[in-house]
Amino acid sequence: MAMASCATAARTMGRWLRPWARPRRAGIGLIAATWLGLAAAPFAALPAVADVLPPVDALKQKLALEPQTVEVIEPHLSTPDRRTRLRYVGWPAAVVLDRLFAPGWKDAGMVIEFRALDGYVSRVPVERFARYSAYLVFARADGAPFEVENVAQNEKHVALGPYYLVWDNVRDAELVKDGASFWPYQVNEMRAVAASLRALLPGDLGSRFAAEAQLTEKLCLSCHQVNGFGGEKFPTNLAQRAKDLSWADFRKQVLTPRAVNAQSTMPPLLANDPAATRDAMARRLYDYLRAVPVIQP
Ligand code: HEC
Repeated sequence: MAMASCATAARTMGRWLRPWARPRRAGIGLIAATWLGLAAAPFAALPAVADVLPPVDALKQKLALEPQTVEVIEPHLSTPDRRTRLRYVGWPAAVVLDRLFAPGWKDAGMVIEFRALDGYVSRVPVERFARYSAYLVFARADGAPFEVENVAQNEKHVALGPYYLVWDNVRDAELVKDGASFWPYQVNEMRAVAASLRALLPGDLGSRFAAEAQLTEKLCLSCHQVNGFGGEKFPTNLAQRAKDLSWADFRKQVLTPRAVNAQSTMPPLLANDPAATRDAMARRLYDYLRAVPVIQP
């Protein structure tokens, strides 16, 4: 109990210390995630989709489905040499999505956004749900507090609730290499959105930077934005910021965020890769971000 309220206090404090954390917007349900204003028409036929997730008891009732236990290799607690397994309780994510969303959520090109209490957004392409087994969990099977340590982000006793998306990486071992990329926690909202890399590749940029735009989306835009597209944890426009920063300063921020700010919660880029790989990746992202025109959403 003491631990739980401590974690809550830390979270409240964290939010207070983060003036850029915007107040939650009233859920819109289905949105086209692009400042280009991707035609809303193809989606207008869909009934409204669930956005803010109901509390566990209400969701249980809504799904009319007994929660089950799933054992996973917990990526936040595992390193390449030491894997920690944990068991969680929840429902298959594909079933939750099927019951809460209109059928269109599965269409090609759709992405499910898992939005966390602090504005972090994890975007999961729908194909992934067909290929692997994900679970939306709300408790630990052993009754221990529903929290984890996030080594990469320098945070202890991180509350996982209300919901946490986990993947059966025991059954599909290739998921282990993705680390915690698609494991959003503190999820309180889900949205089905139309993915659009066009938002990140205006004009003819796609011919030169298609891969870099995708990498930026995967590695940076859970927290940051490019021209209004991205997360709200630290919604700075990287297209603008990269133009303000020298290569040396950008590199330092991205490779060693704690050298810039000792309290940084930004994960260092590709922390487990060799220095040369990390350096090259930082340079590719920098060149791309410098090339993207800054457009006010
Ligand atoms: C998990 C969230 C998260 C991810 C992912 C992330 N950052 Fe950050 N970033 C932050 C936070 C929070 C800050 C604010 C300062 C701090 O905590 O270091 C920040 C600060 C920055 C800054 C300085 C911004 C400013 O206005 O001074 C830059 C530049 C930056 N990040 C670039 C990147 C790039 C490029 C990537 C992808 C390779 C990335 N970040 C990935 C959370 C994140």
